[in-house]
Amino acid sequence: MKILINYATVSGNSAMLAQQLNDKLKAIHADKEFVYKDADECKGEDYSQYDLVLFVSSSWDDGDLNMIAEDYLNQLPDLAGQKFALVGLGDSSYPHFCGAVEKTEAALTAKGATLVGSAHKIDGFVEDPIVEATVAWADGVIKGL
Ligand SMILES: Cc1cc2nc3c(=O)[nH]c(=O)nc-3n(C[C@H](O)[C@H](O)[C@H](O)COP(=O)(O)O)c2cc1C
Repeated sequence: MKILINYATVSGNSAMLAQQLNDKLKAIHADKEFVYKDADECKGEDYSQYDLVLFVSSSWDDGDLNMIAEDYLNQLPDLAGQKFALVGLGDSSYPHFCGAVEKTEAALTAKGATLVGSAHKIDGFVEDPIVEATVAWADGVIKGL
């Protein structure tokens, strides 16, 4: 099984969480292959090689996609049957908490992708309890494939 962990970040939080997810999931699932990439480096990616794409990104400016995510989602190829799971970073002190998650889901399903599990939304800083909860969520998603 091969899993792509990709991230679209503005201030680095999504990258930091994606990196920790990659390290910890690799340790739990030593029998699986994990690829860790910036969404900017995924242009022209052959998604059919992956059993799952774990996309980690954030909301900005009134619950919008960040600009890296917007660019990434706009250039995706047809994704018929491709499984994606989403981690959304945000902050509930903003009126549209994790608003980009719904926009990401809409963009991916428009391309034919299948969303696996419910998106995992994160409120606030990337600290140990948040990382552990996200690893547990991702572990559940992987086991359910
Ligand atoms: C100017 C600004 C606008 C933001 N807008 C939102 C928002 O509308 N909704 C939300 O849930 N979080 C919002 N956030 C919080 C970010 O999503 C959060 O800080 C996230 O961890 C940033 O991740 P990144 O560094 O990967 O981009 C905002 C943060 C800033 C600084």
